[in-house]
Amino acid sequence: MIVIKSDPEIAAMRRAGRVVAQAHEIVAGHVRPGVTTKQLDQLVEDFFRSQNAIPAFKGYNGYPATICASINEVVVHGIPNDVPLEEGWILSVDIGAFVDGFCGDSAWTYPVGRIDQEAQRLLDVTEKSLFLGIEKALVGNRISDISHQVQTFVESNGFSVVRDFVGHGIGRRMHEAPQIPNFGLPGRGPRLKSGMTLAIEPMVTAGNYYVEILPDNWTTVTVDGSWAAHFEHTIVVTNDGPDILTAVL
Ligand code: MF3
Ligand code: CO
Repeated sequence: MIVIKSDPEIAAMRRAGRVVAQAHEIVAGHVRPGVTTKQLDQLVEDFFRSQNAIPAFKGYNGYPATICASINEVVVHGIPNDVPLEEGWILSVDIGAFVDGFCGDSAWTYPVGRIDQEAQRLLDVTEKSLFLGIEKALVGNRISDISHQVQTFVESNGFSVVRDFVGHGIGRRMHEAPQIPNFGLPGRGPRLKSGMTLAIEPMVTAGNYYVEILPDNWTTVTVDGSWAAHFEHTIVVTNDGPDILTAVL
């Protein structure tokens, strides 16, 4: 069952989304060579506390931190650690929070200092695929219209979409129905209605799409060692088109 949110519920989701977006602004201002992902995690945790926001990831299935920090060939669910970031790396940061009982969820991949051209293209294509997918979140479209749009754009640029993780409905819980794959034929799955709130999150690799989970049970890496990017927004479907909730304004 896909939960349709009322206007006051969407207002609460917008407050959650805004706090998550502000946390990303803090992260963006601190990503540089020498900084550790544990330091970034602490900054976001402190900010959430100041906003009466509850970290959505910490304790979720035992996840140990506030953010996910996934470097280079780590696709998602990297655990913050004490390794200083190095120039030329890429860092995917996934952040989620509850405010007033509702969840916001957003991911972004940041360059660490100067990065090479192919890494920058991976970031650009993945970010663009998110916004192209969001453009398909229209009343009357179906879920897989989003999926197909993301896949088509990513693959036309020579990259691969990860199959093993998907976007999702979001609301009072971080993960609600429906699942939103980043691949598939158009015209499948539930029809989109006004008031549906969705986390759309392409995970894209520069090589093939096979991933594996390391023995820590979280860190998810590409099997071929290629680098990966992850961009995610929480949005609401409205009669006037998609509206991004994980935005600062
Ligand atoms: N954005 C991720 C998701 O949608 C965050 C989950 S990380 C976890 O599933 F640690 F909470 F699992
Ligand atoms: Co998500």
